[in-house]
Amino acid sequence: MYQSLLGSALVAAAFVLLGQAARVVHDWDIGYLTVNRDGYTTRRAIGVNGQLPFPPVYATKGDTLVINVHNSLDLPTSIHAHGIFQKGTNYMDGAGLITQCGIPPGENFTYEINADQAGTFWIHGHYSHQNVDGLRTPLVIYDTEPAALEYDEDMLIFLEEWYSNEFSVRMAEVLNPLVPFPPPPSFPYGLINGINGNDTAPITFVPGRKYRLRVINMSSTEWFKFSLPGHQLQIIEADGVDSVPHTVDGLDLGPGQRYSVVVTAHDTDQYNYQFNATLYANFVPFIPGMNPRYYQGLIEYKTGAPVKTIAQGDDRQMEWSDDIVLKAWDRQPLMPVDKTFNWTISSKKYSNNITLAILDEIPFQPPLVPPLFSAMSMGDLALNDTIYGPQTRAHVLRLNEVVEIVIHNPTILDHAMHLHGHDFQVTEYGPSGTQVDPDAPPIPVRKFSEWPMRRDTFVVPAFHYAKVRFHADNPGVWMFHCHMDVHFAMGLALTFVEAPDVLQKQQTIPQGFFDMCHRQGIPTSGNGAGNAGFNLTGLPPIPN
Ligand SMILES: *[C@@H]1O[C@H](CO)[C@@H](O)[C@H](O)[C@H]1NC(C)=O
Ligand SMILES: *[C@@H]1O[C@H](CO)[C@@H](O)[C@H](O)[C@H]1NC(C)=O
Ligand SMILES: *[C@@H]1O[C@H](CO)[C@@H](O)[C@H](O)[C@H]1NC(C)=O
Ligand SMILES: *[C@@H]1O[C@H](CO)[C@@H](O)[C@H](O)[C@H]1NC(C)=O
Ligand SMILES: *[C@@H]1O[C@H](CO)[C@@H](O)[C@H](O)[C@H]1NC(C)=O
Ligand SMILES: *[C@@H]1O[C@H](CO)[C@@H](O)[C@H](O)[C@H]1NC(C)=O
Ligand SMILES: *[C@@H]1O[C@H](CO)[C@@H](O)[C@H](O)[C@H]1NC(C)=O
Ligand SMILES: *[C@@H]1O[C@H](CO)[C@@H](O)[C@H](O)[C@H]1NC(C)=O
Repeated sequence: MYQSLLGSALVAAAFVLLGQAARVVHDWDIGYLTVNRDGYTTRRAIGVNGQLPFPPVYATKGDTLVINVHNSLDLPTSIHAHGIFQKGTNYMDGAGLITQCGIPPGENFTYEINADQAGTFWIHGHYSHQNVDGLRTPLVIYDTEPAALEYDEDMLIFLEEWYSNEFSVRMAEVLNPLVPFPPPPSFPYGLINGINGNDTAPITFVPGRKYRLRVINMSSTEWFKFSLPGHQLQIIEADGVDSVPHTVDGLDLGPGQRYSVVVTAHDTDQYNYQFNATLYANFVPFIPGMNPRYYQGLIEYKTGAPVKTIAQGDDRQMEWSDDIVLKAWDRQPLMPVDKTFNWTISSKKYSNNITLAILDEIPFQPPLVPPLFSAMSMGDLALNDTIYGPQTRAHVLRLNEVVEIVIHNPTILDHAMHLHGHDFQVTEYGPSGTQVDPDAPPIPVRKFSEWPMRRDTFVVPAFHYAKVRFHADNPGVWMFHCHMDVHFAMGLALTFVEAPDVLQKQQTIPQGFFDMCHRQGIPTSGNGAGNAGFNLTGLPPIPN
C-alpha cells in the first residue's frame, strides 16, 4: 500500500517534470532569397523558409530545442546557438569545420540543443559566415525563476547591420593581393527588428507598466548605441548572465553582445517619446550621413500624442553600459587563476601580399580534420596541442583549470571576442600600445569592483587590453574568435581543447555527424591532417 502510494507520487512527479520540459521544434529550410531589407538595395541573402527576418526562437529553461535543418544552399551550412554552453553535447555547437563538417547541400540534419540556461541569446549560421548574409535570429530562453527586477512585459529589440553586397564579395576584396589593404570601407545600413531602422514599428508603452527590453546586437562589424531618451534603463542581464540591477542612460553593444534592461513607463500618456539607435564604426572617419548613421523610432504611449524629443547633450556625459561596473547577480567571487594566456592582436601582410589577422602567432585556419574528431580519436595524444596542426592554434586545457586571457589590442579597431561553451568573468581594462592621436586622453586602468560580471562576448577597445577568466568545466573543443566576421575570416581565432581525456569518456558523437563528413570526403579520425601520431603531412602550408 505504502509502496504503491509512493509509486504513484513518483509517477506524478515525473509527469509534472516532463510536462514542464518541452521539446520546442522548428523546421528550418535554409536557402537563398532576394530581398530589400534596408530600403536601398535588393540583393541575394540567406533566410529560413523563404523569410528574412525569420521568427525568433523562444523556449523555457529546461526545454530541448529541436531544429530540423534542410540545406537548400549550394554550400554546406551549420548553426550555432551563441551563448549556449552545450554541456555534454559539444558536437551540437555547430562550429563549422571545428565541431562538425557542414550539412551538405540538399541534405537534412536535426540539432537538439538543451536550453539549460535562461537569458537572451541568438542562433546563427557558423559556416562560411552565413550569419552576415542573414542567417541569424534571436533566441530567448525564459527563466523559471523570477528576475532581479519585476516587469510586466518582455520585448525584443534586435539590431543588425546590412551590407549592399554579400560577405563573400567583401571578403574576396579584403583577401585580394591586388587591392591595397584595407579596401575602402563599405558603410552598412542599420536594421532594427529586421527592417530599416527608421521604419521600425513603434514600441508601445502603457503608462506605469514595466518592460524588459532584450537588446541584441547581431551585427558583424559595426557598433550600436541604443537609448530611450527620457527613460532610464536598468540593466539586469548581459549575455545570458543576470546582473545586479544597474541604471544607465544608454547601451553600447559590440557584435554578438546582448543586454536586458527594465524600463518603467511614465505614468501619463501625455507624450510620446523617441528611441535612438546609432550605428557607428570608430575606426573609420566621421562621414556625415554614413558614419555614424542615426535611427529613430517612436515610443508610443498614445496614438497622435505630441512627441517629446530630448536633446542628447554630450555623449560622453551620458552613462553607457559598461561590463566592468556591472556585478554578477549570483555574486560569484573572482576565481583564482591556474593558467594565463597573453595574446596581442595584430595583422601582417604575407609574402603573397595578402593581409591576415593574428591572435596567437599565426592566422587561424581550420585543419583537415575538425578538431573535435581529432580530440575524440587520438587517445592520450589528444592531450598534446601539436597534433591538431599549427594553424588550429589549439590549446589543451585540463579539467577545472581557471584560465585567464589577456588580450592586447594596440590597433585602431575595437574587437569583440567570443568564446564558445563558456562565459568569462570580465576583470580589467587598461591601455595598450600608443594611440595615434597624441591629444587623445590617456586610457585609465579600470578593474571590476566586486562579483565580476560574466558574459560570453567581450569587447577589447582600440588601444586597450582586456582581462577575463573562465572555468574549464566543460570538456569539448571550443572556438575563441573575434565576432567581427571579416577579422574571423582573416584568421583572428583559436581553439581551446578542454579536457579531451574526459571528453572521450563522457561524450559520443552521433553517427549523423560522421555521415556528413564522409559524404564530403572529410576524414573523421587522426590528427589535424588525418594521419597517425605527429605526422602532419598534408596540411596546407602556413603563410610566410
Ligand atoms: C528534409 O527536409 C525537408 C524540408 O524540411 C523535408 O521536406 C524532407 O522530407 C526531409 N527529408 C528527409 C529525408 O527527411
Ligand atoms: C553591434 O556590434 C557591432 C559590431 O561589433 C558594433 O559595430 C555595433 O556598434 C554594435 N551595436 C550595438 C547596438 O551594440
Ligand atoms: C533616420 O531618421 C532620422 C530622423 O528623421 C534622420 O535624421 C536619419 O538620417 C535617418 N537615418 C537614415 C539612415 O536615413
Ligand atoms: C536622439 O537622436 C536625435 C537625432 O539624431 C538627437 O538629436 C538627440 O540628441 C538624440 N538624443 C539622445 C539622448 O541620444
Ligand atoms: C603580455 O603582452 C604584452 C604585449 O605584447 C606585453 O607588453 C606584456 O609584457 C606581456 N605580459 C606578460 C606577463 O608576458
Ligand atoms: C606583391 O606586391 C609587390 C608590390 O606591388 C609586387 O612587387 C610583388 O610581385 C607581389 N607579390 C606577389 C606574390 O603577388
Ligand atoms: C607534444 O609532442 C611533442 C612532439 O612529440 C613533444 O615535443 C612535446 O613535448 C609534447 N607536449 C606535451 C605537452 O606533451
Ligand atoms: C605521413 O603521412 C603521409 C600522408 O598521409 C604519408 O604519405 C607518409 O607516409 C607518412 N609518413 C610517415 C613517416 O608515416
